[in-house]
Amino acid sequence: MSDQKYIIAPSILASDFARLGDEVKNVLAAGADWVHFDVMDNHYVPNLTIGPMVCKALRDYGIKEFIDVHLMIDPVDELAQSFIKAGADLISFHPEASKHIHRSIHAIKEKDCKAGLVYNPATPLHTLENVLDDLDLVLIMSVNPGFGGQSFIHSSLEKITQVRKMIDESGKDIRLEVDGGINNETIGLAAAAGADTFVAGSAIFNTENYEQTISELRSKIV
Ligand code: DX5
Ligand code: ZN
Repeated sequence: MSDQKYIIAPSILASDFARLGDEVKNVLAAGADWVHFDVMDNHYVPNLTIGPMVCKALRDYGIKEFIDVHLMIDPVDELAQSFIKAGADLISFHPEASKHIHRSIHAIKEKDCKAGLVYNPATPLHTLENVLDDLDLVLIMSVNPGFGGQSFIHSSLEKITQVRKMIDESGKDIRLEVDGGINNETIGLAAAAGADTFVAGSAIFNTENYEQTISELRSKIV
């Protein structure tokens, strides 16, 4: 999907929403690869964030880079289509939030958008067995979804290792993303376990110099 070995995707959840367009421009200019866009519905997760209108507003503001939409919503299908219209490049969703996972994946892919599945710390991986080949990305949560700024759950490393093996055996071009509690200490552990795409919210947006922070994160995974 991308030839780049490692991708850093700042989660805008930790950005200053009052200045969102500029925050996104600044973090991309500072060396970020993707924009990680966290969507919460106060139903699948207890928190409530932003929807397709905000994604479109970023596009209208001139953001051309890859927007990685992480849906923490139930149900999935209707809003997934709205995000495609709003300019999302990739949409990932939690398998337990869709009654028909295969259909949800293909409804996204039919519209030339990339699709991913997301696994919480306690969600088993068995749904991957049937649809792995259809996916562009697998996202392993290293915190329970719903909030930024939580501590990395170390048992997720084993899950990353398991998915790395499945992806390698499939021979497909599928990215392995990790999300939650990623910082200078944990990014190297996640990379060693097999992750290649790293979401970081508070570790980036809670610092003054995004460029320095992103290059420090990158220095841990080269
Ligand atoms: C959690 C979100 C994450 C979160 C990451 O539900 O999916 O993307 O914003 O934030 P940090 O990096 O602060 O753990
Ligand atoms: Zn996320």
